[in-house]
Amino acid sequence: FRIVSTRLIQNAKFISRSFSSTTKLNAKVTVCGASGGIGQPLSLLLKLNSRISHLALYDIVHSPGIAADLSHISTKAMVTGHLGPDQLRAAIEGSDVVVIPAGVPRKPGMTRDDLFNTNATIVRDLADAVAQYSPKAIICIISNPVNSTVPIASEVFKKRGTYDPNRIFGVSTLDVELDVNQVNCPVVGGHSGVTIVPLISQCTPPVSFPQEDRDKLTKRIQNAGTEVVEAKAGAGSATLSMAFAGARFTDSMLQALAGEEGIVECAFVRSDETEAKYFSTPLLLGKNGLDKNLGLGKILDYELNLIKAAMPELKKNIQKGEDFILKG
Ligand code: NAD
Ligand code: LMR
Repeated sequence: FRIVSTRLIQNAKFISRSFSSTTKLNAKVTVCGASGGIGQPLSLLLKLNSRISHLALYDIVHSPGIAADLSHISTKAMVTGHLGPDQLRAAIEGSDVVVIPAGVPRKPGMTRDDLFNTNATIVRDLADAVAQYSPKAIICIISNPVNSTVPIASEVFKKRGTYDPNRIFGVSTLDVELDVNQVNCPVVGGHSGVTIVPLISQCTPPVSFPQEDRDKLTKRIQNAGTEVVEAKAGAGSATLSMAFAGARFTDSMLQALAGEEGIVECAFVRSDETEAKYFSTPLLLGKNGLDKNLGLGKILDYELNLIKAAMPELKKNIQKGEDFILKG
């Protein structure tokens, strides 16, 4: 088969869902980091989503301008811009879903973990605002390192006494495309290097090829983000494809919140599926966020070994995130 891209996307299904929705929800969605490389196109895509009646854009720069610009698009959602910490509460209050792409991206030669020092504080403060002002909101965290930022947000919610593991998601969804409209490949584990584990044996429709090719494809998927970082040569990491992925994940969540059944996405959540406390697997979404963890299912020994190989780094990343909040 021909690999069109190693990344996401069930495009047509998502686009038709966004533009011709039958499920109405009138949700408020907040984007924190709305002026960034991901934040801007993500906000544009969310402005097109008919399930959203209020799109609140928060950033420490430029958000009023981005909001003014988007508000000239003739779709339903009212757009408000919120600039700086004084306006964070207004951005977050009453939100159904808060999407967080705030923070610095990688440059060539960096790992996602190298972003920890800057992004941990940003995510901590944003999560704390959500825990106070909209504790029932679903949080979708895009900011890296996802393996640590999800545990950080979870510990912040625990401190505030508002923790619900079914409402905090790390957006780690990566699919493999064959025919872009047809193919889905679950990607489990975490969201960095060896912790990214594609379950190619569970691709739908099924695929079959020699072990050598399976290995090459697996490594390519694990390295997909780095390919973009290198191609951008210092100008950041994936933004447009991530915006699409984030908009798709948000749309799936809004459908599930509105009561649609059978909505499944992979995301990085609190999990008992493996010995890692947080782990990405296919999840059935529902009216209260995570409804049922669908788990790993039947996997090849090769894939089991990939998961074993992911464990040390994944556990280390999780511990680092928890310690950041618990030990200061
Ligand atoms: P960017 O630098 O273009 O944008 C980041 C935005 O965050 C900027 O507008 C900045 O002003 C804003 N920001 C910084 N501090 C903030 C704060 N305290 N509150 C609110 N906003 C704040 O970066 P980008 O390319 O959009 O990437 C954003 C993050 O997403 C990075 O950490 C990147 O590694 C991550 N990312 C994750 C995935 C994934 O698969 N989960 C994919 C791509 C990128
Ligand atoms: C990605 O997978 O594209 C993101 O995590 C950004 C990165 O740093 O690679």
